[in-house]
Amino acid sequence: MLDDVEAIRMVDKGNMGMMISSFPRLLKEAVTLSRGLALPRDYRNVKEIVVCGMGGSAIGGDLFKDLSQNNIPLSVSIIRDYDLPRHVDENSLVVAVSYSGNTEETLEAFKQAYEKGSHIVAIASNGLLEKACSKLRIPFLGVPSGYTPRSALPLLFIPLLKVAEEIGFPLVGEGELAEAQRLVEEYNNKLTPENPLSRNPAKQLAARLHGKLPIIYSMGHLKSVALRFKDQINENAKMRAMCDQLPEANHNEVEAWEKIDFKELLHVVFIDSRFKNPYLAESVNQLVSTIKREGVGLSMVKPLGETMLEEMLSAIIMGDWVSYYLAILRGVDPAPVRLITELKSKHDEKMRYSEKFEEWLFKSG
Ligand code: PA5
Repeated sequence: MLDDVEAIRMVDKGNMGMMISSFPRLLKEAVTLSRGLALPRDYRNVKEIVVCGMGGSAIGGDLFKDLSQNNIPLSVSIIRDYDLPRHVDENSLVVAVSYSGNTEETLEAFKQAYEKGSHIVAIASNGLLEKACSKLRIPFLGVPSGYTPRSALPLLFIPLLKVAEEIGFPLVGEGELAEAQRLVEEYNNKLTPENPLSRNPAKQLAARLHGKLPIIYSMGHLKSVALRFKDQINENAKMRAMCDQLPEANHNEVEAWEKIDFKELLHVVFIDSRFKNPYLAESVNQLVSTIKREGVGLSMVKPLGETMLEEMLSAIIMGDWVSYYLAILRGVDPAPVRLITELKSKHDEKMRYSEKFEEWLFKSG
């Protein structure tokens, strides 16, 4: 099935394959687009960065946080909720990210940030977020529409690097970004449907995961890559998956390997890194040998690249394609997210959040 390109197209009615293939191009586009983002000088005085978003629009914030840990002397937090924590105030930089621009949790966090007098910048393709920024004169970066939020990840992640640069913390230079982009483009070319299973590691991993419960582990700067992998399996393949991180898993989750239910239904994916802390490397060895001893299926994913950013992006494109091939094997169209869409619209019908936000906007500014 995975080598029948025509059959794949028949299942992929929403064209998710095309959107995943666009990932390297969108990385390039995001760099160009980000050049247009300029923040007022007083944004340099902030004490923390708070990224607000949900789902496909939040994960870019996680990647940014993972990458910034060793490079930015400010705290970076990701809020996936309506309410901002109390510490957010006029000295915080709140970055509201919503691909549609209409996600109510993000709009509410944006509204609270405005009322607290925080420094704000927003990223969206459209929607109420764009409208609010224009009315309230808040810096806004518009990104192209036409993708699903999860496949627009480069457009939502790369601008965060520009935000950091604008406030005085350049994390990744354009040269390093261009190198990473080239690597991802090359890797992507090896993972597309045209490449047969015998030479396509994404198809091979999907075939191993088909009919199993994937348990994805990672660590350090790849923490959020495991979450992305899980989320992509959930949304594209409409399938359950789990993820966990080391060393935290050594302090709780590891006990679940003591008495294993449904052993034959589990498959562990370990996203490894060349940048591991030596203590972590030993933890990985121990966990891997426990899993092997228990006879549970195990696949090691070794991301490509010489930098943390390259590892992150190459592991993401691999995970995206794996989730895509899992969808194909399950006969489900990867693009539509019927339940997410239905939940959002039923919720808005009942709670009338967008109406309330518009009323607030009318009175503000
Ligand atoms: O992948 C998805 O479609 C979701 O996770 C959305 O990203 C999430 O619901 C938030 O919507 P938006 O990205 O438009 O703010």
